[in-house]
Amino acid sequence: MDMTAAPILVTGGTGTLGRHVVPLLREAGREVRVLSRHAHEPADGVTYVACDLRTGEGLDAAVAGVGTVLHLAGGPKGDDEATRNLVRAAQDAGVRHLVYISVIGADRVPLAWLRSKLAAERAITESGIPWTTLRAAQFHDLALLMAQKMAKLPVIPAPGGLRMQPVDAREVAARLVELTLGEPAGLVPDLVAVAPDVPFLCDFPRAAVITDRNPYREIGRYLSVHRDRRARVFETLSYFDGVHFAARATAPALFSTALEDETCPPSTVFAAYNAYAGSSRQIEVYDFNAHDGGGPFQQVSQLRWFAERLGAAPAGDGAANGLATGQA
Ligand SMILES: NC(=O)c1ccc[n+]([C@@H]2O[C@H](COP(=O)([O-])OP(=O)(O)OC[C@H]3O[C@@H](n4cnc5c(N)ncnc54)[C@H](OP(=O)(O)O)[C@@H]3O)[C@@H](O)[C@H]2O)c1
Repeated sequence: MDMTAAPILVTGGTGTLGRHVVPLLREAGREVRVLSRHAHEPADGVTYVACDLRTGEGLDAAVAGVGTVLHLAGGPKGDDEATRNLVRAAQDAGVRHLVYISVIGADRVPLAWLRSKLAAERAITESGIPWTTLRAAQFHDLALLMAQKMAKLPVIPAPGGLRMQPVDAREVAARLVELTLGEPAGLVPDLVAVAPDVPFLCDFPRAAVITDRNPYREIGRYLSVHRDRRARVFETLSYFDGVHFAARATAPALFSTALEDETCPPSTVFAAYNAYAGSSRQIEVYDFNAHDGGGPFQQVSQLRWFAERLGAAPAGDGAANGLATGQA
C-alpha cells in the first residue's frame, strides 16, 4: 500500500481537536475521510462516513482502503469500547498505522474517564498494528467550558488545589499531524521540557523553619498550638511537595532560584532540583534577587533553551505540545 496515496481516516474529525487537524492534513496534500456519528456532505476535499464507534455500525466501510487511522473520537464514557471496535475493524482492513490521542495522567489518575482512556491506549498497543500515542493536557477550550458551567451556578465553586496547565488545541493538532505523517513512534513524550522558575511548595519541612512568609508561617502557627500533630502535618503536606514530584520527572528541566527569595527559599528549590529525575537538569542562580528571580532575563534564557529542544527559532511557532513553565 502506498501510504501517501491512501486516505487517512480521522475519527472525531468534527470535534474541537479534529477541526484543527483536518485542514492541516489537507494542506499536507493528504486525502482525508472523517468518521462522525452524523451524515455530512463532502466539503473542502474531505469526505465523511457515518459511524457510531460504540455500536460499530458502519465501521467496515469507514476503514476500507485506509492506510492510517487518526483516532480522536471521544466522549465522557465508552472510549475503551469504541476503540476496541475500531481496532478490530482496522486489523481486518490491514491498516498500517494507528495514531491515538490520550490524556496526560491516563496511567496515574484513577478517574473513570482516564481509566477508559488507558484501556483504549492498551487496545491500540496490543492491536499488532504499528501505533503512535500522544498524551495531551486539557485544551484551553475545556478549561473555558468548565469555567462557563460553574459560572451558571448560584454559587461559583472555587476548587482548592486543582491545578491545570491547559494547552492550545491547535498546538496539539499540529503535533498530531506531524506524528500521523511520520513513522509509528509508540508512546511519544508528552512533555518536551519544563522550566520551573523559583518553584513554590518544595521541601515543606525545611521551608516551614527558615521563612516567615505565608503559607509556611501558617504551618508554624498551627503547629505552635497543635504540638502533637507535627508528623501528621508533614506527612499530609508531603503529598503536595514539589520535591516528590521532581523525583518522578522525566523531561529535561531548566530551574531558576534567587538567593534573597523568602517566598521560595533557595534551599527548598535546590531540594527539588537535587531530587529532579528528568533526563537533564540545569539551574540558574540569581545572587542579588528575591522572588522576582531572573525576571525577563530568565525568560530570554528559557526561550533560547526551549528553542534548542524544539529545533525552533525562539520567535517561531512555539511548542508542538508539552512545554511547561511555572513561576510561583
Ligand atoms: N478536550 C480536552 O481537553 C482533551 C485533552 C486531552 C485529550 N483529549 C482527547 O482528544 C479527543 C478529542 O477531544 P475534543 O475535545 O476534540 O472532543 P469533542 O470536541 O467533544 O469532539 C468529540 C468528537 O468525537 C466524536 N465522537 C464522539 N462519540 C463518538 C462515537 N460514539 N462514534 C463516533 N464518533 C464519536 C464526535 O463526532 P460527532 O459528534 O460528529 O459524531 C466529535 O467529533 C478525545 O479523545 C479526548 O479524550 C481531549
